Amino acid sequence: MLRPRSVLITGASSGIGRALALAYAGPQMRLALIGRDGERLREAAQSAASRGADVDIGQIDVRDRAAMQAWIAERDTRIPFDLAIANAGITTGLSDDAVSEDPEAVRALIATNLIGVLNTVEPLIAPMCARGRGQLAFIGSIAGLRGLPYSPAYCASKAAVHVYAESLRGRLERKGVLVSLVIAGFVKTPLNDSISSVKPFELSDTQAAEIIRRGLARGKATIIFPLVLYFAARFGRVLPARLTDRLLAQFDVEVPKTKERVHS
Ligand SMILES: NC(=O)c1ccc[n+]([C@@H]2O[C@H](COP(=O)([O-])OP(=O)(O)OC[C@H]3O[C@@H](n4cnc5c(N)ncnc54)[C@H](OP(=O)(O)O)[C@@H]3O)[C@@H](O)[C@H]2O)c1
Repeated sequence: MLRPRSVLITGASSGIGRALALAYAGPQMRLALIGRDGERLREAAQSAASRGADVDIGQIDVRDRAAMQAWIAERDTRIPFDLAIANAGITTGLSDDAVSEDPEAVRALIATNLIGVLNTVEPLIAPMCARGRGQLAFIGSIAGLRGLPYSPAYCASKAAVHVYAESLRGRLERKGVLVSLVIAGFVKTPLNDSISSVKPFELSDTQAAEIIRRGLARGKATIIFPLVLYFAARFGRVLPARLTDRLLAQFDVEVPKTKERVHS
């Protein structure tokens, strides 16, 4: 079992990231929490600190490469991270009658969900390899397994994260650095609440964080939940593509357009 003592979590001011911070919080734990909303981030940090953790907060936009590099590298030099969880993310989608997503929303999403992930792990790859230990975790999604007609850019961003994590795993594990990919289904969070659809097998953020924490402690390459939804998505890939398209079109799903912009 891996027992990380120093953990970096992005997107810790809400939802899964906040629940992860609380799941790891305890005596002799050092948590470095990143988010943008100062009030929510401080609340998460205080809750983690009340469980005995030593908590450091970084009010940083994960899209800001220079700020991420400086903040993460400075902390890693002082107290090396055992585990980094690239969790921060947003969603955007198509309204009912729209045929294309707002280009500005799409670029903000890619900047957060993909470039933000690179900005999180890049500062740690070389130091962790040099130490010959460490763990990088990526929060992917079942939506990254097959393109969905409701949210093309979100699916593309998560598919990219999945493939990136896989590639790193093949490269870094020889150097002693574990790479774990989380493929999550519906988790009740503000992000998920904004989506209107049926949400089969939805978990609470606390349940999801506990599954992730246990999977990471076991050093799993992939942490998948719920399995039923995962296999349904995989099955959708083996069916003829247009048949799956037609099946997906039966669902009434509304994913609102994000208000995020690249320079917001
Ligand atoms: N909920 C689900 O059903 C579900 C399913 C599969 C995968 N996921 C993934 O899980 C991750 C967490 O999502 P969630 O559901 O917990 O959503 P959430 O409650 O909305 O939390 C998202 C977190 O990401 C942070 N964030 C967003 N943009 C950021 C930026 N530019 N810089 C820094 N932090 C940023 C937010 O912080 P601020 O608000 O402080 O900026 C917040 O802490 C995402 O990657 C999401 O795609 C979620």
